[in-house]
Amino acid sequence: MLILGIESSCDETGVALVDASGTATPRLLGHALHSQIEMHQAFGGVVPELASRDHIRRVLPLTDEVMQQAGLPLSALDWVAHTRGPGLAGALLVGAGVATALGFALNKPVLGVHHLEGHVLSPFLSADPPEFPFVALLVSGGHTQLMRVDGVGRYELLGETIDDAAGEAFDKSAKLLGLAYPGGPALSALAQSGRSDAFAFPRPLLHSGDLDFSFAGLKTAVLTQVKKLAHAHPDGPATTHLADPLSLAQKADVAASVEAAIVDVLLKKSLSALRVTGLKRLVVAGGVGANRRLREQLNAACIAAGVRVHYPELHLCTDNGAMIALAAGMRIQAGWLDAERSAGVFDVLPRWPLAA
Ligand code: KG4
Ligand code: ZN
Repeated sequence: MLILGIESSCDETGVALVDASGTATPRLLGHALHSQIEMHQAFGGVVPELASRDHIRRVLPLTDEVMQQAGLPLSALDWVAHTRGPGLAGALLVGAGVATALGFALNKPVLGVHHLEGHVLSPFLSADPPEFPFVALLVSGGHTQLMRVDGVGRYELLGETIDDAAGEAFDKSAKLLGLAYPGGPALSALAQSGRSDAFAFPRPLLHSGDLDFSFAGLKTAVLTQVKKLAHAHPDGPATTHLADPLSLAQKADVAASVEAAIVDVLLKKSLSALRVTGLKRLVVAGGVGANRRLREQLNAACIAAGVRVHYPELHLCTDNGAMIALAAGMRIQAGWLDAERSAGVFDVLPRWPLAA
């Protein structure tokens, strides 16, 4: 059973083809991705209208590329899946519109997929796939959640951020250091040469006794620290960017300290979630799941706690079409179809909770 998956919820156009025959974990036959990051960088963040227009330009050439990789014609498809939400409304509409049109033209069913379900299930495409049940730590640019996952479509929310997402905390701190959007990977690279104990940034809600997160206060603490360092510079604060007077070593120290604060909270709360549920398996997904420090610390802590930890392949941590095709395949295999199957009409759900 061949399923095409289209992702267009934010600033990446992703298309992929999986084979979900029988009950075996779907197999990736091809995937192609176009990142719009460069286009949005000039604006310091995603410009929704530009994102939608670029998805329109990319989605069909990427689809052709994927079918060529697999050596199959479009007529071989059994299903067409797309991200239905959450995400930017205009961007989602491009994927939904194209998927529905393809389904109509090929006379094949169309399935709208939850973007976060794609992230949560993405480690099933890795060389070391998980087994249900597990605790999922979902850390992306828009979401930070801990979930208990008992199977496909069986998600229980254990805790989530009450303000900024972990990726947002990375991106906003990076911006304060003068790094280009999206700052997470750049901040993480800069942190490699810094001292993680140089500045004691807050670890919000670390001892709150629940599994919720809060990252909004972190950017204020980083701003205060950067201002302090800039004002202490002999030439005084800069007129261009606040962080300009800081030496590379100072910026690296701020980066390493803020990364340590975010990772510390994610680590401790994940371990609490494992304790509360009694589960011995952790899945880490979403863009921040690519963070090296997070992986190193989680790996060490999980070994000590006798917990198996699973990640998506590095290139499938951030948004992509493979996770959408995979989630569609696993939903179809699990028989979860009827409510979501689109019958020639489609909608998108820019706000759509995965688990209540
Ligand atoms: O999952 P994703 O591609 O998009 C959303 O669905 O939001 O996640 C993007 C987020 C951005 O905030 C980006 O800065 C962050 O993931 N990110 C990282 C790293 N790679 C991506 N954050 C920290 N370290 C990284 N290596
Ligand atoms: Zn995402």
